Amino acid sequence: MNELRQQALLDFIRHLASAVTTATFYPLEHTQVGKLCARALESLQQAIDKDSEIALKRVDEQIVIGSKPLGGGMYPARLASMLKHSGIGLLKVSRFATQEEILTLVAGLSGKDENGTRSTENIRLGKLELRYAPSDDDPSATGKRGEAETAEFEDLTEEQINRLKDIYEATRKKKKLHSVGISEIVSSFIAAFTRESNPILALAPLKEMDEYTFTHSINVCILNLAQATSLGIEGSLLHDIGISALLHDIGKLQVPIEVLNKPGQLDDDEWQMIRRHPLEGAKFLINCPGVPRLAVVTAYEHHIRFDASGYPKNAGSREQNISSHMTALSDMFDAMSTHRTYSPSRDLEEVATTMKYMGGTQLHPLLAENFMKILTKFHPDLELA
Ligand SMILES: [Fe+2]
Ligand SMILES: [Fe+2]
Repeated sequence: MNELRQQALLDFIRHLASAVTTATFYPLEHTQVGKLCARALESLQQAIDKDSEIALKRVDEQIVIGSKPLGGGMYPARLASMLKHSGIGLLKVSRFATQEEILTLVAGLSGKDENGTRSTENIRLGKLELRYAPSDDDPSATGKRGEAETAEFEDLTEEQINRLKDIYEATRKKKKLHSVGISEIVSSFIAAFTRESNPILALAPLKEMDEYTFTHSINVCILNLAQATSLGIEGSLLHDIGISALLHDIGKLQVPIEVLNKPGQLDDDEWQMIRRHPLEGAKFLINCPGVPRLAVVTAYEHHIRFDASGYPKNAGSREQNISSHMTALSDMFDAMSTHRTYSPSRDLEEVATTMKYMGGTQLHPLLAENFMKILTKFHPDLELA
């Protein structure tokens, strides 16, 4: 299989696994599930090319093509664990597979099909179970698999997601916030970082969904943890950085939703409302039991730039906390790469290049450099102008 087809196969797996994850949280009819199935089909057709079918075998928690493990990071591993959960050892997909058949597979794997996971005309499932003995010349076969159970991003349970949504809802109604629940969520993210995972890819399943501030906060949390762990930060500081990221935009919940979601230009008054969210967030968090002080500081400082521009004004005379600098980077990255009402999404290369040149002015130079390293580690083809 040539490189192009292999990449298409990895894309197929990524879209399929994301569709299953999305379908566990949202109805099967959700547009995002349909979109991911369509993308999966498109990638599948490129991967199959002129062959008649493609056979993915599951061996323990790896996907194997022919006799070689596919590698490729967390999505093949994620698909393998989904197949394992359904007792499937072999997935054969013919070139005539349809989007509807992919949706049937997604329904089965996400537990939404009362008949369970089942074969269709062009997608055949087998119970075949293989053992794979890794050889020395095959580095991808020697992972850290089989160790104690560690949480993956997708292990963020529906219950935890709902808990987080409740917290956001309660906050919108100006109720007091307790850090119980938030703390568990951050712990499960941190556990995921103890394994080799691609934090950038982990952002994808939650993207493009509604509830911008909610998904944005999760994305910023994942990116901040990626930055912090890459710098060797661990323990309670890492935990507090995660919580701070998750809560950095909490003040936005006090901005009217019509203003937050307004398509097109904001007028001066509306901008003023948006610009008050760091102060409102900090004022709110300072009275919340169990919320670390770092979260208060981060909420207040995350829009103050390295060169003291940004907002709140008159706050730039003192040095910002490292957590605020990290949040500024993650925040900017996520805001620029995600579709939002007041600026269209841009592609990764453009975003990364823009941010690279902001290092030393708007963004902290060393942290910006480190952020680019993280991006290029997971996207080796990334070309920064
Ligand atoms: Fe913000
Ligand atoms: Fe933000």
